[in-house]
Amino acid sequence: MKDKKILTVCYSQRGHTELIAKQIHSIAGGDIYGIKLQKPYGKNYFTALISGGFDILTGKRPEISNKTDISGYDIIFAGGPVWFMTVAPALMSFLNGNDFSGKILIPFCTSGGNEGNFFKNFEKNSNGAKVMRGIGFTGKDFKNPNELKNKLDEWILTIGKQI
Ligand SMILES: Cc1cc2nc3c(=O)[nH]c(=O)nc-3n(C[C@H](O)[C@H](O)[C@H](O)COP(=O)(O)O)c2cc1C
Repeated sequence: MKDKKILTVCYSQRGHTELIAKQIHSIAGGDIYGIKLQKPYGKNYFTALISGGFDILTGKRPEISNKTDISGYDIIFAGGPVWFMTVAPALMSFLNGNDFSGKILIPFCTSGGNEGNFFKNFEKNSNGAKVMRGIGFTGKDFKNPNELKNKLDEWILTIGKQI
């Protein structure tokens, strides 16, 4: 993985996925990019539940306010929260807005414990990428930072051997 250009991308409404993204970035190196929306959902859980639920039902792809050029990257770790058992719309906007031909995409997510179809739907929306095995974290992972770091190290090591 060392000779490749790596980008870690994340959407995070309340900081959990961002924390994972920062750790991936510190292990794997490269650059990091946090997706921001023109109209953010806000930090409130219940407001996001209503507007997020509506956007998932209607298939809305919210506008990203800080689009980034991914053309120079070979490997992209991309993560977000599980929303209604699928990929949060903001991460979908990133996936649907880019062509990943010739690139490797590595998904990650955080959830309350039910990942549902997150990884399946992520892969379906990966526009030409080779998609590697993803990883998910829940509330209990955040309670033990050492275990969380070990889980990430192990996963990245395994992925690295497969690339
Ligand atoms: C709109 C919405 C829908 C959610 N749906 C699910 C779900 O289907 N399954 C689940 O386990 N957690 C669900 N959650 C919980 C989040 O996935 C979890 O809190 C996640 O870690 C939040 O990540 P963040 O802090 O990066 O935004 C939902 C949260 C929101 C706001």
